[in-house]
Amino acid sequence: MLNMAILISGRGSNMHAILSSHAQSELRNIQPCVVISNNKDALGLKIAKEQFGIATEVILSNGKKGWEYDKEIASVLKNYCIYPSNGIICLAGYMRILSSQFVRQYKLRILNIHPSLLPSFKGLHAQKQAFDYGVKISGCTVHFIDDNVDTGPIIIQESVPIYDSDTEEDLSNRILQLEHKLYPLAIKLFSEGKLRLEGRKVYLVEK
Ligand code: GAR
Repeated sequence: MLNMAILISGRGSNMHAILSSHAQSELRNIQPCVVISNNKDALGLKIAKEQFGIATEVILSNGKKGWEYDKEIASVLKNYCIYPSNGIICLAGYMRILSSQFVRQYKLRILNIHPSLLPSFKGLHAQKQAFDYGVKISGCTVHFIDDNVDTGPIIIQESVPIYDSDTEEDLSNRILQLEHKLYPLAIKLFSEGKLRLEGRKVYLVEK
């Protein structure tokens, strides 16, 4: 059984998708323990608590950067028995960059969802970047976190078309629907030990 933390900064729709998937018994090897946010007003906190009965924690940065802030997250994780040996940490719209000290502690146990086909359109506003660039296909990526932004080994990706009639909002919504499907799937594969890493490539192992 893996103890899971979800880190959010806002709306929390991916968190909702993960917790729904768990509630429907699709993530049998996962125990959701806590939702942590750097933003006390994150809508997702209310959803986690009221809809799913999951504990929530707010850790305000108060100007703290890097490891100085992340060590507070590490301490909360330990309070919920989420250790590098049994933990999974899912970033779901978490808008802070994790320090290398934290990433090293929880090596290959931190997953992130990004709304583009990486390595294209890293960083903020990926949907807008893709839309403005004029690509005809975009999508989303679930990947492990490494020391750089949006560069970690890719677990799973899927694409969506971009039509001439689309607005940026149409594209964002289309990608978001896909995110809600793909993130729980990636977590399930990870929790069932079906991912094997070789170099930076992630292979699916059939068990
Ligand atoms: C999602 O689209 C997620 O992929 C994106 O933020 C949104 C959060 O929505 N994450 C990033 O851009 C990370 N670089 P949500 O709070 O409704 O899950």
